[in-house]
Amino acid sequence: MGAEFKLQAEQLRVQRAGREVLAGVSFAVAHGEVYGLLGGNGAGKSTTLATFLGFLPAASGRVIVNGLDVRADLVAARRAIAYLPEAASLYEHLDARENLRYFLQLAGVHGDEADIEAALDRVSLGADARGLRLRGYSKGMRQKVAIALALLRNTGILLLDEPTSGLDPTAIDEFHDLVRGLADAGKTVLMVTHDVYGACQLADRIGLLRSGHLVDQFQAPAGGRIDTETVHRAFSAKAAA
Ligand SMILES: Nc1ncnc2c1ncn2[C@@H]1O[C@H](COP(=O)(O)OP(=O)(O)O)[C@@H](O)[C@H]1O
Ligand SMILES: [Mg+2]
Repeated sequence: MGAEFKLQAEQLRVQRAGREVLAGVSFAVAHGEVYGLLGGNGAGKSTTLATFLGFLPAASGRVIVNGLDVRADLVAARRAIAYLPEAASLYEHLDARENLRYFLQLAGVHGDEADIEAALDRVSLGADARGLRLRGYSKGMRQKVAIALALLRNTGILLLDEPTSGLDPTAIDEFHDLVRGLADAGKTVLMVTHDVYGACQLADRIGLLRSGHLVDQFQAPAGGRIDTETVHRAFSAKAAA
């Protein structure tokens, strides 16, 4: 069922510390789509990702990855997903290649030197930087290494948690171009963010999450973008309510 959808949340309810933090959330992300899950701090964005990854159970409702119920097919569902956590933990004393080699090995994923160079090419990490320890990297460069690692997992689905927070505008634009290119090449992307402008720049569809409720959805017009003003107004109106 719903084979064209790569990610589905159906009436998802999740509790944390005895409190309901997702209160019946439903949305679906189609193959090759970039879905922006937008919301303020504490809205439940990271919780949604954690549930897709099977880190948190649904109190009721369900999450489906590649047509598989995560509760029933946890291993297969997780294998289909590459996840970029909010704070990617890479090793400061290792260079980009060493980090990738180490984390790939840890994940039990095969990646030879050519694969690693290709992934670093794809994220446009400068060739000179690749042999330098991460200690001297900017936040944007670290983010490139983290996304290269996600790409080397070679999955069809990417979950990104606030991937542009702390990046400068140039790095954000570059990151958006990269993600857009991946989606155009057939990856399915669920990106959570509190950045209205960034979500509108990148996403094909935006879901507005407020206190565990999906209160609005916006769809980009064919060949165009979602209107920033409209989303901003909805975001602040809902936040004020
Ligand atoms: N580890 C945790 N234990 C208990 N409650 C948590 C935990 N993490 C988050 N929460 C609560 O769940 C709600 C949603 O959090 P989260 O999904 O992290 O929001 P967002 O990512 O949108 O900022 C918040 O009220 C937060 O306080
Ligand atoms: Mg979060």
